[in-house]
Amino acid sequence: MSTGVFKNQESLSPDFPIERHWDEIPHRTNQINMLWNFYGDILEKKGESFLRRLQIIGPSGSGKTCTLKFFGNEFEAKAKAREIDLNHVYMNLKFEGGRRVIFYRNLVRKIEPRLVSASFSAEELLRSLISYLQEERRYIILTIDEIDYFVRRFKKEGIVYDLTRLNELSNQPCGVVGVTFLARGKEYHDFLDPAELSSLGRTFVEFKPYSSSQVFDILEGRVAEAFHRGVCSDETLRFIADITASRKINGDLRYALDLLLYSGVLADNQGSNRILPDHVRRVLSQISPSLTTEDVVGLSDEGKIVLLAVVRSLSGTHPYTSLREIRENVGVLCEEFRLKPINNIDESLQDLWDRQIIDVRSLLEIGISGAPIEDLDRFLDGLIERLEARIEYGTG
Ligand SMILES: Nc1ncnc2c1ncn2[C@@H]1O[C@H](COP(=O)(O)OP(=O)(O)OP(=O)(O)O)[C@@H](O)[C@H]1O
Ligand SMILES: [Mg+2]
Repeated sequence: MSTGVFKNQESLSPDFPIERHWDEIPHRTNQINMLWNFYGDILEKKGESFLRRLQIIGPSGSGKTCTLKFFGNEFEAKAKAREIDLNHVYMNLKFEGGRRVIFYRNLVRKIEPRLVSASFSAEELLRSLISYLQEERRYIILTIDEIDYFVRRFKKEGIVYDLTRLNELSNQPCGVVGVTFLARGKEYHDFLDPAELSSLGRTFVEFKPYSSSQVFDILEGRVAEAFHRGVCSDETLRFIADITASRKINGDLRYALDLLLYSGVLADNQGSNRILPDHVRRVLSQISPSLTTEDVVGLSDEGKIVLLAVVRSLSGTHPYTSLREIRENVGVLCEEFRLKPINNIDESLQDLWDRQIIDVRSLLEIGISGAPIEDLDRFLDGLIERLEARIEYGTG
């Protein structure tokens, strides 16, 4: 539905199936090529190939799920074009896992519901699936998502063992041509026994966290779908991209989509036809109160003044300020509060950056992502007042 700033609000939902709407997954082309290199020749063999196993490793929001769904759709389409009866089957262990027999019931139901019988054990389900695929000359490429969650939660269920050794159920290709496991890291290997680890293999494709410019690129496409023209400026988008690529968020695109969505909702509620950096800051302070009172109380006296200078240098419409402007404001503040001049501003800024209170992109671009400027200003003003009182008391 089209309202206010939004053209299609739904398209920012994390569940929106971008892989069905876009003809590429930006910045994951290399990974998709690797997937083709790994699995591609199976199509030349008309599917008559033994099971291959692959792992995808990448942090939260790095596009693992959407990329693998995209690849699965492409693989399936190319197989159909060659008249191979092949389907991509996607399973998310967080929702479809649980006990082994439940998982296989869910899996088999997706392939051929008639094979599912409530009285079948996990082994029987698997065996009947494999014979069915072989008899019918049907082929499956499997994507198993959230394997790390699953092996941690259900250590003894042995799904990795089963799925990586399907070939051993018969001496013919088993119809399942590939299984790709998706995980956020490799730590789950610690929960596997040596036999599972060995059959899983060591081949993996890495999804590195998106950089700021990559997030920017990706969001441009999502913004075009979600908002009317001119609602979200490049400046605001770059601000969101920088926050997303920060160490704390580590390129999590889901977070970026949330920020965009809620900033849009807030702009709409305030009757604004544009999303401003301050809308983003306000949302940030609600979805991740990164700048707590404790953070500020823990600063040195100089740190507090430098932070106040940063805040004063920023206005609601601009996400960044420059080092020069901050220096000037530190001077003004020291005069205003009758404090000794502060010489090591750079050191204080470094400290604020280490504490992830400020973002430093360059000497010309220093910003704050933790809290809306107005609130922070009021909050810090109070602090500085106390600070001033203490200094006067100390020296008087
Ligand atoms: N390159 C991209 N282009 C467009 N949208 C993307 C891209 N990468 C991720 N997204 C979107 O970001 C959200 C998160 O991506 P996805 O679910 O694929 O991440 P993930 O790596 O599977 O994360 P998790 O480990 O938390 O499951 C999804 O809504 C997805 O559509
Ligand atoms: Mg995922």
